[in-house]
Amino acid sequence: PTALNGRHFLKELDFTAEEFRGLLALAAELKAAKRAKAETRYLTGRNIALIFEKTSTRTRCAFEVAAADQGAHTTYLDPAGSQIGHKESVKDTARVLGRMYDAIEYRGHGQGVVEELAAYAGVPVYNGLTDEWHPTQMLADLLTMTEHSDKPLESVAFAYLGDARYNMGNSYLVTGALLGMDVRVVAPRLLWPDETIVALARRLADASGARVTLTEDVKEGVRGADFIATDVWVSMGEPQQVWDERIGLLGPYAVTMDVLRATGNPDVRFLHCLPAFHDLGTKVGREIHERYGLTELEVSDEVFESEHSVVFDEAENRMHTIKAVLVATLGDTSQTLA
Ligand code: CP
Ligand code: NVA
Repeated sequence: PTALNGRHFLKELDFTAEEFRGLLALAAELKAAKRAKAETRYLTGRNIALIFEKTSTRTRCAFEVAAADQGAHTTYLDPAGSQIGHKESVKDTARVLGRMYDAIEYRGHGQGVVEELAAYAGVPVYNGLTDEWHPTQMLADLLTMTEHSDKPLESVAFAYLGDARYNMGNSYLVTGALLGMDVRVVAPRLLWPDETIVALARRLADASGARVTLTEDVKEGVRGADFIATDVWVSMGEPQQVWDERIGLLGPYAVTMDVLRATGNPDVRFLHCLPAFHDLGTKVGREIHERYGLTELEVSDEVFESEHSVVFDEAENRMHTIKAVLVATLGDTSQTLA
């Protein structure tokens, strides 16, 4: 059996740094095996429920393809198509699905919901994004970093620019601190992670040797960075009224070629969990354009389409890393695993 068999993945800190690294190594192995058309199936006959109370492209597809590749079956419950939270409590839903499925993925609003599911399901539960954390995304981002840097992770410096008071900002800060990295949050103070999360990151950094920086100064924050990351300025579930405030606050934190140049690193790479607002290819983008006259927000189209951008490797890696989580927590224990 693997050390992670039967475990939940509700937030980054459910795993130790060593376990995190183990999952990255397993993801790299599974990725290579798929490329070589030599994948071993560790999940034959398993059933996985995928609950989405918010929309998704990557996370849903990553879970479905990862499961199918490994011989497992999935059921997708869409934001409108289940009773959860409307006609049936989270606790009851957990107990019902736990009788039928071997694992449950949940994407929704509060972290409390995914924690409650985990408390009552009796099977592994995975967080596919909550307001607070996006842990499966962190595995994909770190795998992408290892692929695009010659340095070991603990020597990698990365800066996250933008709204840092939400899932991506929180997750980057805590994950970088856990793994001993040089992690910088570059954002207006109003949008820094909650104090309890900053304190948590500082405690983790004391143990891991990480460097944790929070700054409002873009030039200082990005200097020497190997990776620059950002995210949308308004997240799923946030009220539309916050656009005014965010555009006002975050304008100087948009990732442009000037920001990449300010790193002083000609090989700097750009990360974005996606979806991104970098052109007028979306309905939301066109509405913003009508209201504010802007054609790009958190990242310029120039950066997004440049050779610095590794966002599609990152998107692909959602699948390989989610597969690693499934195999490690649910895999057939009679098979040998790394
Ligand atoms: N990055 C990410 O979670 O994408 P989706 O919202 O499409 O799943
Ligand atoms: N912060 C974004 C991430 C999307 C993957 C959101 O929650 O909408």
